[in-house]
Amino acid sequence: MVYSIIIHTLSQLIGLLAEILYYYIVLRRYLQKNFLGGVKMSRERWSSRSIFILAAIGSAVGLGNTWRFPGQAYQNGGGAFLIPYFIALVTAGIPLLIMEIAIGKKFQAGAPTAFRKLGKKKGFEWLGWWPLATSFAIVAYYCIVMSWTFNYLWHSLTLAWTKSSSADFFYGDVLRLSDSPGNLGGLNMPLVIGLVLTWIFIWFSIRNGVKSMGKIVKWTVPLPIILLIILVIRALTLPGAIDGINYYLTPQWDRLKDINVWAAAYGQIFFSLSVLFGIMVAYASFLPKDSDVPTNSMIIAFADCLLSFVAGFAVFGTLGFLQQTSGTAIADMSITGPGLAFVTYPEAIAQLPGGLWIQVVFAFLFFLMLLTLGIDSAFSIVEGIVTGLVDKFGWDKKKTVAGMCFVGFAAGLIFATNAGLYWLDIVDNWVNNFNLILIGVFECVVVGWIYSAKKLRNEFNEDSNMKFGPWWDFMIKYVTPLSLLGLNILFLIDSFKANYEGYATKHLLIGGWGIVLATIVFGFVFTTLKGKDLEEEVN
Ligand code: PHE
Repeated sequence: MVYSIIIHTLSQLIGLLAEILYYYIVLRRYLQKNFLGGVKMSRERWSSRSIFILAAIGSAVGLGNTWRFPGQAYQNGGGAFLIPYFIALVTAGIPLLIMEIAIGKKFQAGAPTAFRKLGKKKGFEWLGWWPLATSFAIVAYYCIVMSWTFNYLWHSLTLAWTKSSSADFFYGDVLRLSDSPGNLGGLNMPLVIGLVLTWIFIWFSIRNGVKSMGKIVKWTVPLPIILLIILVIRALTLPGAIDGINYYLTPQWDRLKDINVWAAAYGQIFFSLSVLFGIMVAYASFLPKDSDVPTNSMIIAFADCLLSFVAGFAVFGTLGFLQQTSGTAIADMSITGPGLAFVTYPEAIAQLPGGLWIQVVFAFLFFLMLLTLGIDSAFSIVEGIVTGLVDKFGWDKKKTVAGMCFVGFAAGLIFATNAGLYWLDIVDNWVNNFNLILIGVFECVVVGWIYSAKKLRNEFNEDSNMKFGPWWDFMIKYVTPLSLLGLNILFLIDSFKANYEGYATKHLLIGGWGIVLATIVFGFVFTTLKGKDLEEEVN
């Protein structure tokens, strides 16, 4: 009797529990579907709008502003370069930045998942993986530049480059550059150590996702800006600075006829704004769904371009000074690639008036600026990739970050060999000047024509004080993809005319076309893998 009462009560209790569980599941699904748009309840969030803006500026403002921009201006017509640069900003940079932030915010996911949701079924997921694979190649070599910077931070304590010529010091002592890409030699230990430090720094910054990133960017964004301002003031007060500034701002108009100057301007805008890498999609996916996209994007773009412009004053002011002390005209300094930051600038610093201490302090500040500028750009790339992986496969974020840092470090070792600079040069050229541009064409077609530019615009306008008109659709549908396509064709013609920088064909096939192909294959393979996000949607 007693037993049957107990059994009866127990079975009723179990039935009740099962019912509660059932209703809990139904309610949770209902809430997720109707109020959270199918998003997991626990998605990370930026602690505030300004932290998001700061992080995005951190990603955009990097080595690209301080050495790439002035270097490009130097090679492409001085002040005249500012015109294609500005046109590229308006016709492609800003429209794409808005597009990526709008997509990330709307779909609340990293690039692969966002692009999948944007189309039907798995349709465009590859368009998310492809840029992530591309940015992986970039972060591998970006970190070696950070490693050089770590090394120079150390060498600036003794102004080590003054013992021989600054060019010999860089290519010889620091890089130990061999005579061809095929001649790898061994690993260059100081560079490997710098690489380890860089990756530890990256891991530390993003190990707790958006939360730790938010704390780091409060330092890594303002600090280099303050340092830059100090360097600008120092540069402008040097003898001869005004000649440098004149060189910077005086347009060589005839250079505008050269189509390559235009190509360089577009390339610079994408690299500098960090668009087409899937990063802005990832960053924006941590924004609340009602965030203001256009205003945020305009602030980010404006800050980035302003800083590039200001950095030009520091660099050209210093070049003017160097012209006076060395007697070599600025136009004849033949500065290319990393030469500006690691050869010319250190050389100028070693001649600053005020004695050894002042020179050491300015050298140290300069490399500290490069380091703090670059680090948030580097970790933004890793965060973009990690977000894509975590959103699709539901992996543990901490472990994914650690794993990615390790893989990124390992991939970067090739650049720490004696032929590292050659491989960097080849990969950088193909990835930035061809692969990314092609990604841009596809993104514009998919968003502009298939998803509909107008639809996306109406969506982001809804939450914004700053409303964008139909000109945005026009850019995304016609102007941006067509100008990008033009650049791609130009690249192809150039690369068939002559081997880039005279490298052997086999090396270009590996480091150039090989990498491009690898990113595409990677994009398709990752799309076919089964993810957790799709299961959630089906449920
Ligand atoms: N925008 C960064 C810079 O100007 C570089 C970067 C490229 C960052 C690609 C992220 C992705 O240095």
